[in-house]
Amino acid sequence: MKQSAHLLCINPKCGQIYPIVSRQIKCEKCGHLLDVEYKEKPPTKLKEIFYQRRSRDSIYNESGVWRFRELLNFAEIETEELDQCSKFLVSLDGAEGRQSKPYHMSKVSNFVGIGNNNLMLQPEGYNPSGSFKDNGMASAVTHAKMTGAKKIICASTGNTSASAGMFAANENMECDVYIPDGQIAPGKLSQAYQFGTQMIKVNGNFDDAFTKSLDAANEEGSYTVNSVNPFRIEGQKTIPFRALEFLEWEVPDWIVYPGGALGNTSSCGKSLIELYNWGWIKKIPKIAVINAEGANTLHNLYNGEFENEELRWNGGSPNLELVDRYYDYMNKNNLGPKTKATAIQIGKPANIAKGLRALEFTNGCVIQVSDKEMLDGMSVVGLNGFDCEMASGATVAGIKKLVDDEIIKNDDIVVGILTGRQKEPLLPIDYHNDPANKFAKPPRI
Ligand code: F0G
Repeated sequence: MKQSAHLLCINPKCGQIYPIVSRQIKCEKCGHLLDVEYKEKPPTKLKEIFYQRRSRDSIYNESGVWRFRELLNFAEIETEELDQCSKFLVSLDGAEGRQSKPYHMSKVSNFVGIGNNNLMLQPEGYNPSGSFKDNGMASAVTHAKMTGAKKIICASTGNTSASAGMFAANENMECDVYIPDGQIAPGKLSQAYQFGTQMIKVNGNFDDAFTKSLDAANEEGSYTVNSVNPFRIEGQKTIPFRALEFLEWEVPDWIVYPGGALGNTSSCGKSLIELYNWGWIKKIPKIAVINAEGANTLHNLYNGEFENEELRWNGGSPNLELVDRYYDYMNKNNLGPKTKATAIQIGKPANIAKGLRALEFTNGCVIQVSDKEMLDGMSVVGLNGFDCEMASGATVAGIKKLVDDEIIKNDDIVVGILTGRQKEPLLPIDYHNDPANKFAKPPRI
């Protein structure tokens, strides 16, 4: 199935369109972010085709991203023609998204207080570079090549750089990574070095590194692969696609993510808006975004903790002045983000507008959890034989809190996304050596 697509400003009052090969990430007219918009409606009979494609014939059918290619066909290819797939679609030999699907984890269910049949967790750490980023990197690097870019650029709290580095090395492209010096887990940093990226150390936090990286990406032949890039969002739509496919396209009540720059929230929202508009789903799950207490910008703004205003999508005109005032207040009072979960140590979520749209469409919610709660969440996942990092522990901690507060009801069906695998070996060692921790198993002497 061939598609035609263009870029569209997310502000419905603007509606500016850009060609699909544009490197634009923000609307020139109004400054809002952009969406990929598809002109044709993919038929629901594709559900059966996606299922049959798994592990058959070619890497594009094995891939957990590209087997859904009709739903993200911005390359405008004839999707059944595998020679066209191999000419355009970038893949790590079909491995991106291939191993990730929802699992039941009984000890997590007991901990959060939902029946084991009702809770599923999807470990995106099973991606080749160890996090969900590979889903969106496959699509972003595909588009980078469509634009003729030779160098991909990102700022990162670690996982984006590992993923970008892996894809760049595979595609023989250059990769520059802007990192907040001293604030990245060594396990992630070492991956980026290993894949031959050019590291640029920034004296500041992720938000500072991000600003620098965007300036650099303006240069001819360069291309940003952070999640403000609408093509990152396209690949990340396949995270909910795989969850929904596992549930035979029966929609859960909740999808729960940790919140950082809000790329995941945005992509989940976009996938649900499209599936609903295309008639693929009849019900809309609620998205719950879980912030770290030490990096809780969305939580504070969404829940009216700043200037008593609850920030909302507001038909495409969110109060971005309120957001700017919040950032000023953060800067003036030296309230930079601070959490041990460095992956989500982000104070200025670049996708905030798209995140608000997702929350609005799904009638979702935003809560915050402490570092201690995230560590318990991470650790109880481990007891089920699955591996996840501290930021992903936010998903478990957040579900527990929402169940305790009776926002998630105990007969609700919940899918939680575990965004990355453990890359900080000292965290579990320290956790288990402290007998005061809930799930600690200290060593015997
Ligand atoms: N979980 C993990 C493991 C992450 O690495 C990130 C983001 C998030 C959650 C937050 O996701 O931005 O979509 O809300 N890591 C980025 C990085 C920023 O550079 O690796 P989001």
